[in-house]
Amino acid sequence: MKPFPVYPLMNINVQRGLGSYVWDADNRKYLDFYGGHAVISIGHGHPHFIKKVSNQLEHLAFYSNAVVNDLQIELAKKIGAISGYSDYQLFMVNSGAEAIENALKLASFKNQRTKMIAFERGFHGRTSAAVHVTDNPKISANINRGFDRVILPWDDLVTVKKHLSKGDVCAVLIEGMQGVGGVHIPDPAFLKELEILCRQTGTILILDEIQSGYGRSGKFFAHQYSGIKPDLITIAKGMGNGFPTGGVLISPDFKATFGLLGTTFGGTHLACAAGLAVVEVIEKEGLLENAIQRGDQLKTALSQFSEVLEIRGMGCMIGVEMPFPVKEFRKIFVEKFSVFTGSSSQPNTLRILPPLTVSELEVEEFIEKFGVCLLEYC
Ligand SMILES: Cc1ncc(COP(=O)(O)O)c(C=O)c1O
Repeated sequence: MKPFPVYPLMNINVQRGLGSYVWDADNRKYLDFYGGHAVISIGHGHPHFIKKVSNQLEHLAFYSNAVVNDLQIELAKKIGAISGYSDYQLFMVNSGAEAIENALKLASFKNQRTKMIAFERGFHGRTSAAVHVTDNPKISANINRGFDRVILPWDDLVTVKKHLSKGDVCAVLIEGMQGVGGVHIPDPAFLKELEILCRQTGTILILDEIQSGYGRSGKFFAHQYSGIKPDLITIAKGMGNGFPTGGVLISPDFKATFGLLGTTFGGTHLACAAGLAVVEVIEKEGLLENAIQRGDQLKTALSQFSEVLEIRGMGCMIGVEMPFPVKEFRKIFVEKFSVFTGSSSQPNTLRILPPLTVSELEVEEFIEKFGVCLLEYC
């Protein structure tokens, strides 16, 4: 048997990682400013992460959600405290898409409605309902189109208002900062107004913080720059620093009943150990502050290149708009200059997602190599 070849692979066999770097099978060192789709939050091979996960593995990797799990309780408490959502509840899952599925389901349980609103360029995952609220018909099969949904223009309050005014929308789903769509920050005034409209019409507001959350923007959640409080918040990616885990933060207005949601693998002992290690490192090492400083450093340095048309984003989530499609540039950047970066659904946008632990020197190294690569490319 062979793997089902759905991924256009780079011919790089990554074997180990430390901090902002990874090494391939020939021991070649790469600067990782992508973190495998924004997953690496506290850096590769962080000693606290290794210790906590290994220690847990020696005791117990897994037992089901049928028994008390102290680690889940501890993790929920820590995420609540660090995010400012202490009064919310945590339901743990295994991936981003699964978090979205459960958030949509909770919204529909709550108000019994079925119609969803999402936004242009938005990405929310590839599973059944998640892909239907994602703005990419190419990855949606007929079986996925089982409920009414509209994809609306970004930041367009008038259109959103028109759709919400009938009072038949179940939920509005929006990323705290769009990732796959090319790094776009929602206008804080739009989010604020959206929150009010949702409250007035009994619509559930879901913030997808799967990519932009967990400190990546410099606040724990990107939407916290707007001062709003959504009903549901989805998390994954940086939550486990590579260990597959995710979750939904659920407002106290939602009451659980036994069996309402469920999963075999969500919130296992090992996943909780990984999640706890990440939160502890973010807190201990002041990584929100570091994300802001390194993000500002990156933006200032990038703005000095005349080829750069626009720089979007905050903290360790930056989109760089180039005057050319970035596919070939990224290829040269990694193959010749050993630097990993990301693409997006917008062909001319380069996505930069270093770990929140990235240092000033590593940003300087990135900028120097970016400049040389630009000279070579142009
Ligand atoms: C904002 C957002 N939501 C959801 C997902 C889906 O997450 P997963 O790939 O873990 O299912 C992603 C993945 O890129 C994402 O960026």
